[in-house]
Amino acid sequence: MDAEQLGNDLTHVVATREELDRRIHEIAREIDGDYANLDKPLLLIGVLKGAVMVMADLARAISVPVHMDWMAVSSYGSGTKSSGVVRILKDLDIDLKDRHVLIVEDILDSGLTLSWLIKNLKSRGPASVEVMTMMRKPDAIKVQVDAKYIGLDIPNEFVVGFGLDYAEQYRNLREVAVLAPHVYQS
Ligand code: XMP
Ligand code: MG
Repeated sequence: MDAEQLGNDLTHVVATREELDRRIHEIAREIDGDYANLDKPLLLIGVLKGAVMVMADLARAISVPVHMDWMAVSSYGSGTKSSGVVRILKDLDIDLKDRHVLIVEDILDSGLTLSWLIKNLKSRGPASVEVMTMMRKPDAIKVQVDAKYIGLDIPNEFVVGFGLDYAEQYRNLREVAVLAPHVYQS
C-alpha cells in the first residue's frame, strides 16, 4: 500500500521507498565489509513485529552468510511511552554463545528498549553485539545507544509504515509517514 492511497490518515512522508532502499543497500555493503570471513554466519536478530520489513530487505541485500532469529518484547510503561522495563514475549531459538550478533530494529526512539535488549543479549556470551536501526529520532533519545548502522534520522513525531503500526494498522505501507492526529484522537 502507498501513502497516496491513505489520503488524510497521514500528514506527510518522512522516508520514501527510494530513501529506504538506498540506505538499506548502503548499510548492507558496510555489513559485508565489516563481517567478511566469520567462522559462523552473522546472526541477525529481528525485533518483532516492526522489524519484519527491514529484516526482509536488509537480509536479502547482504552478501555474507547470515542466520536469522526473532525476539518479541513488550515494554511496560505507565502511559504510551516505553519505560525501559521490558518483558520477553518470544525468546530466541538460537544459542548466542560465541556468535556475532546484529540486532535489526525498526526505530530507535527513547533508546530504552534497545539498551535493555543489548544488555540482555550480551549476558548470553556472544562474540559481539551491534545494532542496525532503520530509523532514529535524535530528539527523543533518553538513553545513549551505540547503533553501528543507522538508516535515516527522522523528526520526533509518531510515524507508521514499513513495519511500524498504529493499533496494528499501516505496517504494509511502503513508505514511512507521520500519522495524522485525528486518527488517534478520535
Ligand atoms: P524506545 O522508546 O524504547 O522505543 O526506543 C522503541 C520502540 O517503540 C516503538 N516506536 C514506534 N512505533 N511509530 C511506531 O509505530 C513510532 O513513531 C514509534 N516510535 C517508537 C517501536 O516499536 C520501537 O521498537
Ligand atoms: Mg508498535
